[in-house]
Amino acid sequence: MKKLIAVLLVVVMIAGILAGCGAKKSGGTLTMGTNAEFPPYEYYEGDKIVGIDAEIAAAIADKLGMELKIEDMAFDAIIPAITSGKIDMGMAGMTVTDERKQSVDFSDSYATGVQAVIVAENSAITSVDDLSAGGLTIGVQSSTTGDLYMTWDLEDPGLATVQRYNKGADAVQALVTGKVDCVVIDNEPAKAFVEANPGLKILPTAYTEEDYAIAFAKGNTELQTKVNEALKELIADGTVAKIIDKYIGG
Ligand code: ARG
Repeated sequence: MKKLIAVLLVVVMIAGILAGCGAKKSGGTLTMGTNAEFPPYEYYEGDKIVGIDAEIAAAIADKLGMELKIEDMAFDAIIPAITSGKIDMGMAGMTVTDERKQSVDFSDSYATGVQAVIVAENSAITSVDDLSAGGLTIGVQSSTTGDLYMTWDLEDPGLATVQRYNKGADAVQALVTGKVDCVVIDNEPAKAFVEANPGLKILPTAYTEEDYAIAFAKGNTELQTKVNEALKELIADGTVAKIIDKYIGG
């Protein structure tokens, strides 16, 4: 009986693998997962997702002769969508970290980011060192590196409380209404949020610097290599710099 169940399990598994292969894209479509709450990397203009990542991805797809399809999802859903094969790659101002490298492979880096601290203009917090003063509530976008650093560096040792929001904009709204004392988020979205909300400012010292890259399923070296080659050409011919300048104004 045990043997029969084992054999049946194997048959079911093989059928599953075959079905998975059959459903795979023809190679014509490049499905990118992102979280379009992150200006200027990805955000909505009307019902279209635009931004640095969207444009670089379009240029990559163009080079590869593929049709780009962008799927918007929660930031913490991107890596699971990659590992389960729902999307071909994740591009979301995503920082390369050792923890993420355990579940996905990354492309070469195409941009750098900085974790910035947003406070109210009249805040008593004047430097990153003040974050560990004790008793502060820090707003972050859930599962981002801002969340991870604040959790490890400040919440775990009992130095601060971290409030996690689905969207960076929600964390900033919580700061506006005084529910949190500051928000830790990537520098460029921070600038966009501060511009949209009078009374806020970014601390002159940043928390940390990081590399953004595209994430693929572990072992999908075929796509990883193709994208890296396209990326290399787009960096060499100035396309990437031009796209970044267009949004960040270098
Ligand atoms: N760079 C940070 C990270 O990798 C934040 C990225 C958030 N991106 C987004 N599209 N919401 O965790």
